[in-house]
Amino acid sequence: MRATITTVLASIATLAAAAQNERTFAVLRFDGDGFMTEGRVDPIINPGTAASHFHGIMGGNAFGTIVVGDQLLSSTCTNAKIKNDKSNYWAPQVYFQDPKNGTFTKVPLFYMNVYYFFEPTDDEIKSFPPGLKMVVGDAKTRDPPAFGGGSNLNPDSGPIQPVQFTCPRTSYNPPSYPADSDGSMAGMQDPHNQGAGAGFPLYPCDTSGAPLRADIHFPSCYNPEVGLEDYKNNMAWPTVTNGKQNCPSGHIHVPHIFFELYWNTPKFDHLWTPDGKNQPFVLANGDRTGFSSHADFISGWDETTLKTIIDTCNVGSIGMQTCPDIPGGLNTDMNCKIDSPIVETLSLEGPLLALPGNNPVSGWGVNGDSSGSGSSDDAGSYPASGTVQQSTAKATSAGSQATSNTAISDAQTSSPAEVSVGHSVGLGGQKGKAPSTSELPEAVGNYATTGTVVAADQPSIPAAANGPAVSTVWDIVTVTQTQTVYAEASAHVKRQNHGHLARHRRSGHLGRS
Ligand SMILES: *[C@@H]1O[C@H](CO)[C@@H](O)[C@H](O)[C@H]1NC(C)=O
Repeated sequence: MRATITTVLASIATLAAAAQNERTFAVLRFDGDGFMTEGRVDPIINPGTAASHFHGIMGGNAFGTIVVGDQLLSSTCTNAKIKNDKSNYWAPQVYFQDPKNGTFTKVPLFYMNVYYFFEPTDDEIKSFPPGLKMVVGDAKTRDPPAFGGGSNLNPDSGPIQPVQFTCPRTSYNPPSYPADSDGSMAGMQDPHNQGAGAGFPLYPCDTSGAPLRADIHFPSCYNPEVGLEDYKNNMAWPTVTNGKQNCPSGHIHVPHIFFELYWNTPKFDHLWTPDGKNQPFVLANGDRTGFSSHADFISGWDETTLKTIIDTCNVGSIGMQTCPDIPGGLNTDMNCKIDSPIVETLSLEGPLLALPGNNPVSGWGVNGDSSGSGSSDDAGSYPASGTVQQSTAKATSAGSQATSNTAISDAQTSSPAEVSVGHSVGLGGQKGKAPSTSELPEAVGNYATTGTVVAADQPSIPAAANGPAVSTVWDIVTVTQTQTVYAEASAHVKRQNHGHLARHRRSGHLGRS
């Protein structure tokens, strides 16, 4: 009898030690020095070959078209701030399609955050096993999400909807998404957040330092029986019971990671005029809806390091680099970049006559197709509308088909018909070049006076001295409104989120040329 009681007490103690009562978190920040590499590469979806569309990739340099086992651990450098994080994080490039002539120009990344959320749970949260491959979102779809404009990570609350765009504006009149939009001809607003929704918004994101942002949540329950490689089946979303997010039995509860990619869209403000119907941004796969936003992850974490961060760190938005105890320490060489594993025949710098991979633009009635049925990721045809079609037709007839990238980086000197063959330009020329942020709005130091929703909703606290702690995490606050489990986290998140633009300014992030 006594032995039984002792055993029970021991298990209760173990449970108590492992479980989490409230959300803790730390943000891994990539500060605007560009991607570690980029290109039509995706070792999860298209191993050993060119991917259908262009990605930007952060993390360890053991990345390539093939990543097997724990190969990322052998990276000799990473652009993550934590030395022992050699994971890769990637997402599709966003392009600006010029409404006047249809050409495509890469939107520079402003910066990227990866939130590591340690959610309230009865489970023990463990490290990602090295080599774990995850993909979230559907690159093929052009259809609106079944859940609508909001975000939903709880399988019991409806269809999972893990991707959104966030676009803070100084005014939401007119709204970023048409009222009552069903997604067939425009995006859908998040019912809890005027500044967020499913699909690209119809108006420029005009608040200082907060350009268009792709938001992508990953599931946090790994099934070891399915294994590291089977990215289609190896992850599940936790269910919520009494405020705890618990994994199905047999699964390992890993951190909930959430990507924010801030794209420097204000750079293109002068090139388009909002009309409440069209917007000029497309994903690298040709999706002009944004519904196919997606992201990939392969873990290259040293397990002890991440486990220590899970168990001991709750620095929130200040940044993971301020965690009190990080085995291996901080990354002292942030200058980690590699040439793209896929060398394109033509330049990738815009304006381009076609997207890399020659992906046709589709969705919202372009190509007569709002359903997405014609939106193959690797289609070879080019049925886009308007002048771009003519331009590309010329380039194609000039023989560029085999290159699959009808680039015209020498646009000043070449007519489209001359663009085609034998002009070999890799990514080496841009190695180490950070995207320009010089064209972002200047009025930064006084964020609270700009009248944004963010400022209006949230109290201001003095800026911390350290770090470019820039974040608009209020979308996560929104998530809390659809998922009661996050209610406690809400206040915590809010508390972290202030004065950040002032900090940003001070750190020299904006206005740099
Ligand atoms: C398209 O317009 C952009 C500027 O709006 C310009 O830089 C580019 O050269 C033009 N391309 C063609 C093919 O007309």
